[in-house]
Amino acid sequence: MRTVIVDTDPGADDALALIMAVNSPDLQVEGITTVGGNATLSDTTDNALRLVEYLDGKQSAIPVAVGAGEPLRGSFTHAYHVHGSEGLGVRLPAPALRPHGMSAVELIRDRAAKSAGPLTVIALGPLTNVAAALESRPDLVDALAEIVVMGGAFDVPGNVTPHAEFNIHEDPWAASAVFASGVPVTLVGLDVTRRTSMHRRSGPRWFAGTSKSAQLGNRILADRFQERSDLQEFYLHDPLAVAAAIDPDILACRPARVSVVTNRDERGRTIARYGDGTVKVAVGVDVPRAVEMVRSLVSAGRA
Ligand code: RIB
Ligand code: CA
Repeated sequence: MRTVIVDTDPGADDALALIMAVNSPDLQVEGITTVGGNATLSDTTDNALRLVEYLDGKQSAIPVAVGAGEPLRGSFTHAYHVHGSEGLGVRLPAPALRPHGMSAVELIRDRAAKSAGPLTVIALGPLTNVAAALESRPDLVDALAEIVVMGGAFDVPGNVTPHAEFNIHEDPWAASAVFASGVPVTLVGLDVTRRTSMHRRSGPRWFAGTSKSAQLGNRILADRFQERSDLQEFYLHDPLAVAAAIDPDILACRPARVSVVTNRDERGRTIARYGDGTVKVAVGVDVPRAVEMVRSLVSAGRA
């Protein structure tokens, strides 16, 4: 059982990843922290509350703590065109749940201090909250077992510019700080996430069964394929990061020192110097096993 905090900017693929995390018997979700990115902080936080209430009920004990609405410098460039209106095309009921009284940074620090074992952070959006938490409490480095990050692009083109993947591009300064922090990082980038996807033609029942989770997963994918006629594959970016936190063996990784370009021309580019270092860069993935993990965990859950 891994004790985790999920830092997220839901986001359609974040939503599938959150379903997996909540449903997984191998993860204890101690909290969800929200960050701007795919959508405004207001939208990502509202989406996170709606998702937690839908998945875990109005009495859910999973805290949702609000984080950063902007990167360490400048502003986020949101991706509503990718994720839909309000950042999640599917509209869930307005939540009764409210954000936790702590901020995202405070919740990460609090749960790291209270966790029986070392805490893992699964980071699915820009790394602003994680960098701020590490900066506020340097001793957090010893309290975190690992940060599993969806982000980066090494031997493949980026998805925001030819050089940069979205999460890193949106806050390259935060990413640079997290990769240099000394906390073990598993970096799940486009090199592997673009190899895991759900195809338009294999719907409309991408997720089997009648559970609330399966129904929501199918609604999310149907909405994205309907809204984006150009989309043939729904990439499992964030779901693969959660799958890797559950079963690290689905990835082949290489240790590296990873630097992040922050200048204007190649902002967000990630450069790996392989050999040693605290960052494990994912260079391979067991695609059938990973996709089956996503399918089974999204299809699980209560009816
Ligand atoms: O590049 C893909 C990443 O950016 C995913 O986390 C997606 O949700 C967006 O945040
Ligand atoms: Ca995300």
